[in-house]
Amino acid sequence: MRTLITGGNRGIGLELVRQALARGDRVIATARHPGKAGDLNRLAGEYPGHLSVLAWEADKAGAAAELAREVAMVDDHLDLVIANAGMLVRGERFGAVGEKDLGHALAVNTVGPFMLAQALAPLLAKGTAPKLILVSSVLGSLARRDAFYTASYSISKAALNMAMRVLAVPMKELGITTISVHPGWVRTEMGGEQAPLLPADSARDLLRLADGLALEDAGRFLAHDGSELPF
Ligand SMILES: NC(=O)c1ccc[n+]([C@@H]2O[C@H](COP(=O)([O-])OP(=O)(O)OC[C@H]3O[C@@H](n4cnc5c(N)ncnc54)[C@H](OP(=O)(O)O)[C@@H]3O)[C@@H](O)[C@H]2O)c1
Repeated sequence: MRTLITGGNRGIGLELVRQALARGDRVIATARHPGKAGDLNRLAGEYPGHLSVLAWEADKAGAAAELAREVAMVDDHLDLVIANAGMLVRGERFGAVGEKDLGHALAVNTVGPFMLAQALAPLLAKGTAPKLILVSSVLGSLARRDAFYTASYSISKAALNMAMRVLAVPMKELGITTISVHPGWVRTEMGGEQAPLLPADSARDLLRLADGLALEDAGRFLAHDGSELPF
C-alpha cells in the first residue's frame, strides 16, 4: 500500500508514519524542513526503501503541484492520503483576533489541504480502493459551537469540512473515498499535556478507520472511533 501523510515529523503525523511503516506500507511523509525531521530520517534508516521524506509547506504557493510532481517520480499511484498537517492560533479573544492569524490558519488548515487534494487526485485515482482523509477537528463543528474560543482554528476547520464535502463528489466519481476526521483530543504540542489520548492510540484508530472505509462513506465527518460528528 502506498500512503502519503502530511506533517509527518511530529505529533499524530509521526505516529501515523510509524504505524503505517510497521504494517508494511510504503510511505511518503511530508515535512516543512525534511533536513531537520530527525525522527523521520531515523525511521527512513529503519525501513530502507519504504519511507520517502518530501518537503511540503501548506501555505506556500504552488507547493501542492510541486509535491505531486515529486510523488509521481517516486511512484505512479497513491492508495491513502492523510492530510494531517495543521496549526492552531492560541489565546485568541473576541475583539482581538489578528487578520494575519486568521489568514494564516485558513492558508494552512483549509487552502493547503484543498490544493493538496486537487493535486494528488490523479495519483489517488490510480490507487486501489483509494482514500483521502482530511484531519479536521470537532472544534470546526458549526452545530457544537456556543462560545468564543479558538476562532481562527475553528473557522478554518469548519471551512476544511466544507472543502471535504465539495471534493467528496468529484473524488467519488474517480473512485476515491473522501472524509474528514476528528483525531480525538491528543497529547501533542497542539493538544497539550492534559489531553487524554496518546498519539499512538489516535494514529491506530485513524488507520483502522481508513481501512474500514468504503465509497458510500464519502462526505462523512467522523471521530477517530468511527462515530458520526455533526457538521
Ligand atoms: N492534538 C489534538 O488534540 C488535535 C485535536 C483535533 C484535531 N487535531 C488535528 O490533528 C492534526 C495533527 O495535530 P497534532 O496534534 O499532531 O499537531 P502538532 O503536534 O502541532 O503537529 C502539527 C504538524 O503540522 C505541521 N505543520 C504546521 N504548520 C504547517 C505548515 N504551514 N505547512 C506544513 N506543515 C505544517 C507541523 O510541522 P512542523 O513541525 O514543521 O511545524 C507538524 O508536523 C492537525 O490537523 C490538528 O489540527 C489535533
